[in-house]
Amino acid sequence: MSAVTATIPALTNDLLIGNEWGAEQIRELYHLSADIKARPERYRSALAGRFLALIFEKPSLRTRVTFEVGISSMGGGAVFLDHTQSRLGDRESVHDVAKNLERWVQGIVARVFEHKLLEELAENAGIPVINALSDRSHPCQALADFFTLEERFGNVRGLKIAYVGDGNNVCHSLLIIGARLGAHIRVATPAGYEPDAAVVSEARRLARENRGKIEILRSPIEAANGAHAIYTDVWASMGQEDEAAQREAIFAPYQVNSSLFDHAEAECIFMHCLPAHRGSEVATEVIDSPRSIVFEQSENRLHVQKAILLTLLG
Ligand code: CP
Ligand code: NVA
Repeated sequence: MSAVTATIPALTNDLLIGNEWGAEQIRELYHLSADIKARPERYRSALAGRFLALIFEKPSLRTRVTFEVGISSMGGGAVFLDHTQSRLGDRESVHDVAKNLERWVQGIVARVFEHKLLEELAENAGIPVINALSDRSHPCQALADFFTLEERFGNVRGLKIAYVGDGNNVCHSLLIIGARLGAHIRVATPAGYEPDAAVVSEARRLARENRGKIEILRSPIEAANGAHAIYTDVWASMGQEDEAAQREAIFAPYQVNSSLFDHAEAECIFMHCLPAHRGSEVATEVIDSPRSIVFEQSENRLHVQKAILLTLLG
């Protein structure tokens, strides 16, 4: 039996925000991800002779390891370009980096401080560019998270997902992908930490098209009411370390602890993209409880990203 291949082409050859892919493309991606997860041996040579540059301006455990292992396990090669000590564009222009890389490799995976650097790479390189996290979004994370939710619940249409905490990059991607798949996403943040208005407006547009629902709230209890999943992320993202102490105080009422689950469905699960800070955004009793599916999320980063690579480069 032959391996599953994506038949519906992606709308663009880059994955920068996540709204590049329609619901049908995501369905195909999940079909491929499930086959890769069940039968990885079928894909041993799927990226043979293909190389990717991995440019990281920020630290990473999950994203780096899952891309490197994913590429190697399909016979391809990854070249890690460590930019954690120097910004992309410092030594030579982003334009010239893109124009060089396209001569040697078949794709770029990049984690950057400023989202516009990804757009500049994509504009100048005639090869796929995959967002490995920017200040604005983290589409690989959200694509893996909704795959994980579908494994658990069968379908995410109408599923109530409460995101409690900072309206950050991860929140943005959950809004976009969740809206596309028809989920009901409720976000609760302190005043001044809401998700970006343009992202919310795009998510609402996608939700209207896909019978999803987006609510931006203040109260974590209101968000958790009847929820099937409660999701949180760090209160200070990479690059916001200077604000960490101030944010600890502001976000304290937004900690996801066991009493928040009293308002949710009995079987409500806990999700976090990781890394997590036990005792801050999530109580230890929650992240280490049977409700927690954080390591399922991490595992699925591998399978879903392999499917993303095959969809864009295969
Ligand atoms: N969730 C996630 O992207 O983790 P890393 O920062 O370790 O890659
Ligand atoms: N919001 C976090 C996510 C880390 C995976 C950050 O940007 O640091």
